[in-house]
Amino acid sequence: MDLFEYQARDLFAAHGVPVLDGIVATTPAQARTAAEQLLGSGSAVVVVKAQVKAGGRGKAGGVKLARSADEAEQVAEQILGMDIKGHTVHRVMVAAGASIASEYYFSVLLDRSERRYLAMCSVEGGMEIEQLAVERPDALARVAVDPRVGIDAAKAAEIVAAAGFDDEVGPLVAPVLERLWEVYRDEDATLVEVNPLVRTADGSIVALDGKVSLDANADFRHPAHAELEDKDAADPLEAKAKAKGLNYVKLDGEVGIIGNGAGLVMSTLDVVAYAGEAHGGVKPANFLDIGGGASAEVMANGLDIILGDPQVKAVFVNVFGGITACDAVADGIVAALKILGDEASKPLVVRLDGNNVDEGRRILREAAHPLVTLADTMDGGADKAAELAHAAA
Ligand SMILES: Nc1ncnc2c1ncn2[C@@H]1O[C@H](COP(=O)(O)OP(=O)(O)OP(=O)(O)O)[C@@H](O)[C@H]1O
Ligand SMILES: [Mg+2]
Repeated sequence: MDLFEYQARDLFAAHGVPVLDGIVATTPAQARTAAEQLLGSGSAVVVVKAQVKAGGRGKAGGVKLARSADEAEQVAEQILGMDIKGHTVHRVMVAAGASIASEYYFSVLLDRSERRYLAMCSVEGGMEIEQLAVERPDALARVAVDPRVGIDAAKAAEIVAAAGFDDEVGPLVAPVLERLWEVYRDEDATLVEVNPLVRTADGSIVALDGKVSLDANADFRHPAHAELEDKDAADPLEAKAKAKGLNYVKLDGEVGIIGNGAGLVMSTLDVVAYAGEAHGGVKPANFLDIGGGASAEVMANGLDIILGDPQVKAVFVNVFGGITACDAVADGIVAALKILGDEASKPLVVRLDGNNVDEGRRILREAAHPLVTLADTMDGGADKAAELAHAAA
C-alpha cells in the first residue's frame, strides 16, 4: 500500500524524523484557515501541495508557494480537482515553507534480486532526480543494506560518505538516515523515499517530501495501518470482497471467474480470454480464488460479489477437488444458489474435476438449477461461459 505524503509525514514524525508542520485541507476555505494557522505560528510562507499517489507533483503544478492566507486559498482552488498523471487531487497539504539551502535525495527499498535492502543517496536531490539517475548514475550512491543489521550509525556514515556529503553536513544527515531506517523497519515498509531531504538556511536537516510503501503482508502486525487505507479509491466490490476475506481482483471483462487455488484461477483467466476470442472478444471479469474450503457460505459470498458486478454476463466456476472433495463443492454451489435466490440471475457454467468428481456432478445434475450448465473440461467450460456471456452482452 502506497501512502499519501501527509501520511508518510506523520509516520516520519512518529519516528523522530524532522519534518515541518502540515495541515490537510479538502476545500480552498480549509486551506485558508490552515495557512492562517501556520503563518500565525511563525512560518514566513506556506506551500500548498497536491496529495496524490504519484511522483512529479511539483512539475505538474501541484506544489505552489503562498505568502498569505488569501494566496493559499487561491492556489488551493487551482490545485484541488487538478489531474496529475490520472489522479484527481481531492486533498492538499498546506505545509510550513522551508528556506532551502540544499536539496538531497535518500531512499531505502527492498532489493529482491539481491535479497537485501538498498539505500540510495545523493547530494543533488530535488525534482530532477530521475534525470540525474539516468545521465549521471555515479552521482546517486547505491549502498547495500544487510537486513540483519539495517542502517546503524556505521552504515549511515558509509552512506553519507558514498553520497559525497562534506564533513560538516554528513554528520547532520547521518542520524536522520538512522531514523528513516527505523520507519522502514518498524512499519514494515518496502520503500521509504525522501526527495528532497533539505538543509535549511539555519542549518537543520528536514524531510520536505515523503514516499512510503507498506508491505501488506505484514498488515497483521500493524492494526494501525488499516487507518491509512484510501477508502475513496478502493473499488467497492474489492472492498466488499476484502471484508469477507476473499481474494478478489476486479478486471474489465464479462465472464465472472471462481476457482480454488491461485494457480488454477490464473490459468482459468488465460483459457477464458483465449475462448473469448471466438465469442465477440469477451474477457474475464475478475480474479477470485475461494481457496481450499469451498463451503456454501464461501461460494455464496463469492457468487454474490461476482454477480454484483454489472459488467458480468456469465460465470465460470472452475474447481479442482482436493482435500475439499467435489461433492462438498457441489453442495456448496447448490446451497449458495438457494441463499442468493433471485439475486442469482446470470448463467453459471460449472466444471468440477478431481476428488469425488462423479458424486459432485451427480449432485448438480439432480439439483437441475435452470442457470447451471455442467462442463466436462476446463476448455469446454471456458468456451461455454464465453459463448453465454457474448449472447447476453
Ligand atoms: N515545505 C516546503 N517548503 C519549501 N519548498 C518546498 C516545500 N515542499 C516542497 N518544496 C519544494 O517543491 C519541490 C517539489 O516538492 P515535492 O518534492 O514535495 O513534490 P514532488 O514534485 O511531487 O516530488 P516527487 O517528484 O519527488 O514526487 C521540492 O523539491 C522543493 O523544492
Ligand atoms: Mg519530491
